[in-house]
Amino acid sequence: MNFWLPAFIIFELLISTLHLHPVFSLPACRNLCGGIAINYPFGLDDGCGAPPYRKMLNCTGDLFFQTPSGNYKVRSIDYDKKNMVMYDPAMSTCTMLQPHHDLVMSAIQSVLIPPSPDTVFVLLNCSIDSPVLNHYRSLCFNFSGHSCDELYNACPSFKIFHLLSTGYPPCCFTGYDTVKYMSMNILDCSHYTSLYNADDLSGVGPLDWSYGIKLSYTVPNTGCDRCAQSGGTCGFDTETEGMLCLCSSSINSTRECAGGSVISRSRSRGHNRTPLTLFQAFGFILGAFLNLFL
Ligand SMILES: *[C@@H]1O[C@H](CO)[C@@H](O)[C@H](O)[C@H]1NC(C)=O
Ligand SMILES: *[C@@H]1O[C@H](CO)[C@@H](O)[C@H](O)[C@H]1NC(C)=O
Ligand SMILES: *[C@@H]1O[C@H](CO)[C@@H](O)[C@H](O)[C@H]1NC(C)=O
Ligand SMILES: *[C@@H]1O[C@H](CO)[C@@H](O)[C@H](O)[C@H]1NC(C)=O
Repeated sequence: MNFWLPAFIIFELLISTLHLHPVFSLPACRNLCGGIAINYPFGLDDGCGAPPYRKMLNCTGDLFFQTPSGNYKVRSIDYDKKNMVMYDPAMSTCTMLQPHHDLVMSAIQSVLIPPSPDTVFVLLNCSIDSPVLNHYRSLCFNFSGHSCDELYNACPSFKIFHLLSTGYPPCCFTGYDTVKYMSMNILDCSHYTSLYNADDLSGVGPLDWSYGIKLSYTVPNTGCDRCAQSGGTCGFDTETEGMLCLCSSSINSTRECAGGSVISRSRSRGHNRTPLTLFQAFGFILGAFLNLFL
């Protein structure tokens, strides 16, 4: 006769299971790599950070910025000034001569995180037929009063260029756009180097320049501040790339982390739990009633 009770108990268990288990599990967003803090808009784990920056960083002991021309080691990220300094281990510097290696960034990288205006590319040992000495001469600029001869003389690695020839082979100080549109083969220069913080290098010798590439990035305006202020980490849905606020309560929200109450958490997930809870209470009362009277 009393078969309603087990039925209600099972019903209760089902409802409770649905309620108490976190339905989704969140990716853990690593926030440090090789001593460098990883914050928005960057992310190491898929689903963390801003979607346009997806898969740009790789953490294999050290932090690397991934481009179509290879992985560049990240030296620092300045979140206030919105820049990242990276370094191509295969690039020549004042103390190390290496075969040239074109810098190729993806279309989205060239727009979102291009080399900063104070990053100067130095094309070295150019042939006299180089486009930057002829038709595209205007792409070369005088940089803080420095000359090519200075590099050929002061840098141990570049001395070889004028030891092997009479006089100094031409060189060119230029911006990222030149190397973006022309490969080193087209430019007809055998080597290049790049340096950053060029505006501060007046009167400083080439041995003391900072070699590397400074990238200036833009932060997408997706309302991450609101999520961060609520204690969450900005991320995105890996399928739709819609913004998600990743909260410690393991409930995804589109905007911000809720205070933790059942109602607000259920609201943050986009549906209201209250009718189910009333239904559950009704189940208990009905179950008890049937148990007593049947
Ligand atoms: C990450 O970068 C390292 C160093 O360049 C490279 O060896 C490795 O294959 C990269 N990993 C991924 C998943 O791209
Ligand atoms: C300098 O460039 C010339 C071609 O213009 C090349 O033959 C020579 O090997 C280069 N020098 C070095 C040291 O690579
Ligand atoms: C750069 O400076 C040198 C002298 O230091 C000068 O001969 C040359 O014409 C200048 N080039 C440009 C493009 O201003
Ligand atoms: C919650 O976030 C994780 C990780 O991004 C994702 O796999 C899952 O689908 C998300 N759930 C909802 C409801 O958005």
